[in-house]
Amino acid sequence: MNVTNRGLTQEYVISVMKLEENIFGKSNKVSIENSLTTPNRQYYIVVDNGEVIAFCEVNLMEIEMEIVNIAVKDCYRGSGVGNSLMKYVFEEHPNVDVVFLEVRFSNQSAINLYIKNGFEEVGVRKGYYSDGEDAIIMKR
Ligand SMILES: CC(C)(COP(=O)(O)OP(=O)(O)OC[C@H]1O[C@@H](n2cnc3c(N)ncnc32)[C@H](O)[C@@H]1OP(=O)(O)O)[C@@H](O)C(=O)NCCC(=O)NCCS
Repeated sequence: MNVTNRGLTQEYVISVMKLEENIFGKSNKVSIENSLTTPNRQYYIVVDNGEVIAFCEVNLMEIEMEIVNIAVKDCYRGSGVGNSLMKYVFEEHPNVDVVFLEVRFSNQSAINLYIKNGFEEVGVRKGYYSDGEDAIIMKR
């Protein structure tokens, strides 16, 4: 592996779109592309030999950040990629005081990743997802 954490640039937009589609079944190229010119929406990516293997989408509101999504290509999971990307995102925003996210009640891998990075549960959104599953709200 020759893995690098970095901000998104135009050359990787399609690669992020494909990864997002593979993992979540949908993506939006225009939305990803728009983040390149929207300071309060950012994508961070992990690249291995030119291929995007992970991404993290965030919203920024001055000293507050929302982790909109984070995902790692399945064959790279469990090897520290997600953890390293999350730490990189925080290092890129030293002035951020508070970080929020929502995660599916059943998504234990992600919940563990977030706890490892200092998040704690602060609430629940009942039936938040389209299939009726609850979301746990976490804060760091
Ligand atoms: C959640 C996800 C991003 C984690 O990325 P990853 O690169 O596999 O995670 P890492 O290898 O860096 O592991 C970091 C921590 O996450 C947790 N974790 C990761 N995989 C796990 C698993 N299979 N079971 C339980 N905990 C797990 C552990 O706490 C781990 O720390 P540890 O190795 O000290 O135990 C990845 O599983 C993924 O892309 N899932 C699908 C997309 C998704 O659900 N995203 C979250 C949306 S809210």
